[in-house]
Amino acid sequence: MTWRVRREADLEALFRHSAFPSKISIINPSFSVKFQSLAAMTVIVPEPVLEESCNGESVKERQIDGKIDLSGEFTVPDSNAFGHSFRDYEKESERKAGVEEFYRVNHINQTYAFAKRKKEEYGRLEKAEMSIWECIELLNEFVDESDPDLDEPQIEHLLQSAEAIRRDYPDEDWLHLTALIHDLGKVLLHPSFGGEPQWCVVGDTFPLGCAFDESIVHHQYFKQNPDYADPVLSTRLGVYTENCGLDKVTISWGHDEYMYLVMKGNEVRLPPAAFFIVRFHSFYALHRSGAYQYLMNDEDKEMLKWLKIFNKYDLYSKSKVRVNVEEVKPYYMSLINKYFPDKLRW
Ligand SMILES: [Fe+2]
Ligand SMILES: [Fe+2]
Repeated sequence: MTWRVRREADLEALFRHSAFPSKISIINPSFSVKFQSLAAMTVIVPEPVLEESCNGESVKERQIDGKIDLSGEFTVPDSNAFGHSFRDYEKESERKAGVEEFYRVNHINQTYAFAKRKKEEYGRLEKAEMSIWECIELLNEFVDESDPDLDEPQIEHLLQSAEAIRRDYPDEDWLHLTALIHDLGKVLLHPSFGGEPQWCVVGDTFPLGCAFDESIVHHQYFKQNPDYADPVLSTRLGVYTENCGLDKVTISWGHDEYMYLVMKGNEVRLPPAAFFIVRFHSFYALHRSGAYQYLMNDEDKEMLKWLKIFNKYDLYSKSKVRVNVEEVKPYYMSLINKYFPDKLRW
């Protein structure tokens, strides 16, 4: 099969499949050069290649998962997108080293104090005022600049996920819109939003203020995180109480939490499950490994069901069906008008 590797959101999906971080230029510039040239080409995968993913869960498991739960014509990738490069052992080890380096930096720096500081800083929503569609265009333009050779805009990728969910869940219009907007927090990478480095924008997220669960990818690097040896923050409950609800939990800083803050700080009329999905879609320890149940309340358990549904479309949004943006835009504009104010503070 052929995958066209396009932009940030695609790269994130690839990362989930193949343990490849969406971009690592800040951390390892020499690797990034190779990656960018790889990202700009069409990768031909003649046969499925299965390997361990970064979560210690095999790609095969995820694929089986996808096949059971997804219906219709939705395309579930049946092979690793970096097919050719997997047969190139030099590139493969570079790729793994890049992933590990990404998580090493992430795990050392994501402390309880850091996440709270970022939340406070960005939670003021003083960076910009714009509509949802303007943000989509900003992300599009920005990602275009970083990948000039790529031929499909980011917006098509977002719409592919949304359209796939729309086809399978036609009555849940809020879920269609949630798919469209869930990654908009990646504008944090944009210079006008502070040009945050990759390690605190993308990648898996996890709770801070309590012990790091062993199911978190590359858990070993938490040993260098100051919270790891803290007498309170290193305990099972840390600063929390049993079943306090995820709403009370400080999660590591990234595009998920930022978009959640934007939604919370504006008059957004989406249901609680949409907020939950946006906030926790990269919290793999929760929705894949079932960790941190002791922090969840009954409401979280209900909403987790929607997150699990959503996550399959986030992972497997590699539908080769092109979406005609102009054709579907009126539908999504009607949803944006229904659930969001005209302008939002970012
Ligand atoms: Fe995301
Ligand atoms: Fe995503």
